[in-house]
Amino acid sequence: MPDTPARPAGRRSAEVAPPIPYTAVVPAAGLGTRFLPATKTVPKELLPVVDTPGIELVAEEAKSAGAERLLIVTSPGKDGVVAHFVEDLVLEHTLASRGKEAMLAKVRNAPSLLEVASVIQDKPLGLGHAVGCVEGELADDEDAIAVLLPDDLVLPGGTLGRMAAARARYGGSVLCAIEVPGDEISAYGVFDVEDDPENPNVKRVRGMVEKPHPSLAPSNLAAAGRYILDRKVFDALRAIKPGAGGELQLTDAIALLIEWGEPVHVVIHEGTRHDLGNPGGYLKAAVDFALDRDDYGPELRAWLTRRLAQDH
Ligand code: UTP
Repeated sequence: MPDTPARPAGRRSAEVAPPIPYTAVVPAAGLGTRFLPATKTVPKELLPVVDTPGIELVAEEAKSAGAERLLIVTSPGKDGVVAHFVEDLVLEHTLASRGKEAMLAKVRNAPSLLEVASVIQDKPLGLGHAVGCVEGELADDEDAIAVLLPDDLVLPGGTLGRMAAARARYGGSVLCAIEVPGDEISAYGVFDVEDDPENPNVKRVRGMVEKPHPSLAPSNLAAAGRYILDRKVFDALRAIKPGAGGELQLTDAIALLIEWGEPVHVVIHEGTRHDLGNPGGYLKAAVDFALDRDDYGPELRAWLTRRLAQDH
């Protein structure tokens, strides 16, 4: 049994306990095959959305929601992902000595967000397996974890906070859903839900169907990459067998929690969601972010307008 690290005492104020779990887990040990050849040497989590890696945006979201520790699941050879959150004193000194204050602030952002730790997943045996790797890194009193997939951008923030509030009310685990038009639903994991008349944005999950035919989809609610998982998920992860693609699927562990009678709810995200895990979704995210920036937005908008006019 690995020693369970003690959570530093006094990190959290006793009076105002933030509702989100202390540890935000970011699984980043996948192969990123949909992004080859770039991901042969560059982890997809470090691909920039304009100029900031997706994983830094996700770490900012976790911090804003009240998490205090970022636990990155990484793989041998993807050291750059964790290195992004480590101070680079030589670079910082160079920028400071040249008076590049704005760049210095950008470089200092990632290391200053949260306490960062990492755990290695030796082989990409699936998202469920990656989440299972963090159990030994949690303190005994951590009864839940937040999991944020770094290739999902869920904007604006606030949904994790609402998920934590749902856990406080209903207990168990809480997942995040986005509403998807009927003809696109077969690209997603889809929730089978039960309405709560008192709370239209939170629903109890009866089950999940992976990539259903539109006519068989139990709802228009698709899974997005945010989870608040009760610690019992580790028991479920130990109990499941490899599923689709020979991988240990987090979805299968959640299905088992439901079978055991554990409460599982979804909170419906209101806003945008970008999938950075494939080039098409990544491009949309980059354009969306760039259009909102003062430095790149106006020129990009003008160029896009001209470029689109050529297609007519
Ligand atoms: P994905 O299936 O989207 O990522 O997993 P992938 O496997 O890297 O991508 P493709 O399908 O080959 O293109 C969702 C998240 O889970 C992590 C990934 O890094 C990604 O952030 N993951 C996946 C792991 O950490 N370990 C795994 O074994 C699988």
